[in-house]
Amino acid sequence: MSTAKKDYKKITTKSLIDMKAQGEKISMLTAYDFTMAKIVDSAGIDVILVGDSASNVMAGHETTLPITLDQMIYHASSVVRGADRALVVVDLPFGSYQSDPREALRSAIRIMKESGGHAVKLEGGKEIKDSIKKILNAGIPVMGHLGLTPQSIYKFGTYTVRAKEEQEALKLIEDAKLLEKLGCFSLVLEKIPAKLAQQIAESISIPVIGIGAGSGVDGQVLVIHDMLGMNNEFSPRFLRRYMNLYEGMTSAISQYVEDVKSKDFPNKKEQY
Ligand code: KIV
Repeated sequence: MSTAKKDYKKITTKSLIDMKAQGEKISMLTAYDFTMAKIVDSAGIDVILVGDSASNVMAGHETTLPITLDQMIYHASSVVRGADRALVVVDLPFGSYQSDPREALRSAIRIMKESGGHAVKLEGGKEIKDSIKKILNAGIPVMGHLGLTPQSIYKFGTYTVRAKEEQEALKLIEDAKLLEKLGCFSLVLEKIPAKLAQQIAESISIPVIGIGAGSGVDGQVLVIHDMLGMNNEFSPRFLRRYMNLYEGMTSAISQYVEDVKSKDFPNKKEQY
């Protein structure tokens, strides 16, 4: 059981800020359904992200763009029912906040009211500043997301490391400071050089959670399907696999098929 589990009963946005101040790293994983949320929560995770990566790992889309606000609310409400202790952060999906701040606020309110999530996450910096302000003014906590922002994949054209060039790195630093100034409680940095991520984490007071951003940040996030090895096709350098569930599940299911075919299952003890 983690130290964090002893120190914080229910994780709030303030707990995360306190963790950073005390030098305690923040653990975050995605979950998209009740059962997974229950497991992740009871294992002591600090933050559950209902990521729009549900579009990839739950629905089989190539990108995060197709998932809708209604679908995110469905996933998030299932997760909220499974989480007792963790802070539940929900992604605002592509198309639900980019057109104007009023639409962004309406989408964030729907997430908070209909799913019971505790905060929302949005991708982008200066370009969406007015939307972030509007959501924050309504009392909804906001987590930022900079670096590789998968909702803009068609603008980038690739999922490779971001901000390797000075100009992009400078914009990233500016955006991170802006998000802090606006009042975001935390920030995800995805797939950027470790040195830059550490520099940003050290220059702002809100917690920086990294994915492919090295060890110098205030916490780490991974997609649960990736870290449990549920798909064996995705192997970026930053990913640590803690299980090989793809193999484990395939062999368990093959065994079941064999047992049914051979009439071994059910046996006398497994029937009424
Ligand atoms: O949608 C998601 O899973 C995310 C993480 C990769 C940070 O945004």
